[in-house]
Amino acid sequence: MRKYGVIGLGQVGATVAYTLVQHGTVDELVLIDHNEALAQAQKLDLDDASPRLGSTTKIILNDYAALADAEVLIVASGNIGAIDMNSSKGRFGEYESNQAIVRDIAPKIVASGFKGILIDIMNPCDVMTDYLQRMTGFDRNRVFGTGTFLDTARMQKYVGQALNTNGKNVAGYVYGEHGNSQFVAWSTVAVNGQPIANFHDLDLKQLEEDARQGAFAVMAGKHYTNFAIATCGVRLAEAVSADEQLACPVSAFDPDFGTYVGMPAVIGKNGIESLIHLDLTPDEKASLASSAKFINSKVDVLPQAVK
Ligand SMILES: NC(=O)c1ccc[n+]([C@@H]2O[C@H](COP(=O)([O-])OP(=O)(O)OC[C@H]3O[C@@H](n4cnc5c(N)ncnc54)[C@H](O)[C@@H]3O)[C@@H](O)[C@H]2O)c1
Repeated sequence: MRKYGVIGLGQVGATVAYTLVQHGTVDELVLIDHNEALAQAQKLDLDDASPRLGSTTKIILNDYAALADAEVLIVASGNIGAIDMNSSKGRFGEYESNQAIVRDIAPKIVASGFKGILIDIMNPCDVMTDYLQRMTGFDRNRVFGTGTFLDTARMQKYVGQALNTNGKNVAGYVYGEHGNSQFVAWSTVAVNGQPIANFHDLDLKQLEEDARQGAFAVMAGKHYTNFAIATCGVRLAEAVSADEQLACPVSAFDPDFGTYVGMPAVIGKNGIESLIHLDLTPDEKASLASSAKFINSKVDVLPQAVK
């Protein structure tokens, strides 16, 4: 029996749940949201689809205890309305509300006896992932965030568009914070096997900025993003279940920095199986260290778990 949980059933969590039900990924799905009416409505709507699907997913609602034997828990709670697109705070608009959510849900997750892999989507993603690990006390490999997995997809999309090819043909990684201090490590980027340096007419600064601002381009029209991030979250969860040993950029704990930060890692049944340390340029190394330092400074000041 395969079982996942999702906490937070807003735009992102609902789309994660919908995708899992459509894929038939799990036999049981534990859905949790403190907005009881919303949670009920999401379950009703998903259950209504059931007679038309080839697979059946049993939805369990607002029962933390049911997480005890779940394989993966995706955290998609938050307060998207707190992000003001016109403010330089960016995703830190949710810093206050979401740290309080971590303090609410972490003890409940621990008390449930959950033994699986926790994937955080909640923003600011690296800070909340680190805080969730600290407040649950789970082994660091068991907790990771979607981090720059989505930003990397955006970079692939924009580079692909600029070169008239499919973003799938673009390899390489966005590193650092899922936020303003992220950067494209161009030394890792290749298109159809050729290093990006071979393509002379590209405006790399603009492409990097397009990837960085990608979320806000979507939010300008609908005030949230859901499809791409849910796709990323589900992809990572399925990589855990299948023990895929999938190399991809996520928010992982790096002992060198003492914090979670976006970098390539290998994802399998143990969550983070290993970090991938590539030979970055000195500038890229400095950007990563500076991004990690920023993340760390935002986690260290939060109220910590009582030992
Ligand atoms: N990491 C990424 O790349 C990425 C991309 C998109 C969105 N996000 C983040 O994902 C989160 C969710 O986004 P959204 O658009 O679905 O937000 P939303 O505001 O629509 O939904 C959040 C949900 O969380 C629920 N919630 C709040 N506190 C809770 C608690 N203590 N316990 C249980 N449920 C609680 C709310 O009731 C709400 O239904 C946000 O933090 C958003 O910034 C991250």
